[in-house]
Amino acid sequence: MSERQLEQLKIMRNEITRFLLSYKFALDEMETKIDILKEEFESLHDYSPIEHTKTRLKSPESIMSKLYRKGANFSFESIRETVKDIAGMRITCSFLSDIYRVSEMLQQQSDLKVLEIKDYIKNPKPNGYKSLHLLIEVPVFMSDRVENVCVEVQIRTIAMDFWASLEHKIFYKYNQSVPERLLQELKDAADTADELDHQMERLMNEVQTIKHLHDENSAEDLTSIMINNQKFNLPRALIDVLGKQE
Ligand code: GTP
Ligand code: MG
Repeated sequence: MSERQLEQLKIMRNEITRFLLSYKFALDEMETKIDILKEEFESLHDYSPIEHTKTRLKSPESIMSKLYRKGANFSFESIRETVKDIAGMRITCSFLSDIYRVSEMLQQQSDLKVLEIKDYIKNPKPNGYKSLHLLIEVPVFMSDRVENVCVEVQIRTIAMDFWASLEHKIFYKYNQSVPERLLQELKDAADTADELDHQMERLMNEVQTIKHLHDENSAEDLTSIMINNQKFNLPRALIDVLGKQE
C-alpha cells in the first residue's frame, strides 16, 4: 500500500469507528434505561418484568451486504436511512403482559422517539415467530454534537426467545431451505411455546393474588430501606410523628 492509500485507510477507519461508536453509545443509553426500570421495579415491587437484556452491533460486513441487498448507495447518510438495525437490543421478559408493560414504559420516556412498532405477537409471522419490535431514536450527547441514533428493540418472553434462537439455528443449518415437514414442526413448536406463555401468565396471576393475601398478614420490616446493599433506617422521629397522628 502506498503512503497515500495508508493515509486514506486511516481516515476511513476513523470515520467508521466514529459512526459505529454512536450506535454503541445509543445501546449504552438504552441499557442504563432498562437497568433503572429493573432496579426500580425490584426495589418497590419485589419483582421485575425484565429477565435479561442483550445488545449487539451489526458488523460493517453485514451492514454492507444489507445495503447492497436493498440497492442503496454507499454513504453514511444512506446507511443511517436504510439499515435500521445496526444497534440491536433484545429484552427478554418473564411474562406476556410484561412485554407491553416494558414497551409502554419506553414509549413514555420523553427523550426517546418511537419511530415504528411491529407487533409480531398480535400478528405472528407465518412461521410462528413472535416478538414486539420497536424502532427507537435515542439522543446521544457527544463532545461536539448530539446525534439521534436508531436502535432496534426486540421484546419477547423466554419461550419466544427460546423458539426464535432455535429457529434461527435450524435455518442456518439447512442453508435457508428447510424441508416442509420441519417447517410444520417449527410452527407447532411456536404454538406450544405460546400455550406455555399463556399458562405461565395465568399461574403468575394466581400467585400474585396469594402473595397479596400473604403480605397483608406478614409483619415485614417497614422501618428500614435497602438500596445498593446499604441499609437505611427510617428516622425514629419520623415514625414517632406517624404515631402521634392517630
Ligand atoms: P430485516 O431487513 O431482516 O431486518 O427485516 P425487517 O426490516 O422486515 O424487520 P423485521 O422486524 O421483520 O425483523 C427484524 C429482526 O427480527 C431480524 O433481524 C431477526 O432478528 C428478527 N426476526 C424477524 N423474523 C424472524 C424469524 O422468523 N425468526 C427469527 N428467529 N428471527 C426473526
Ligand atoms: Mg434485521
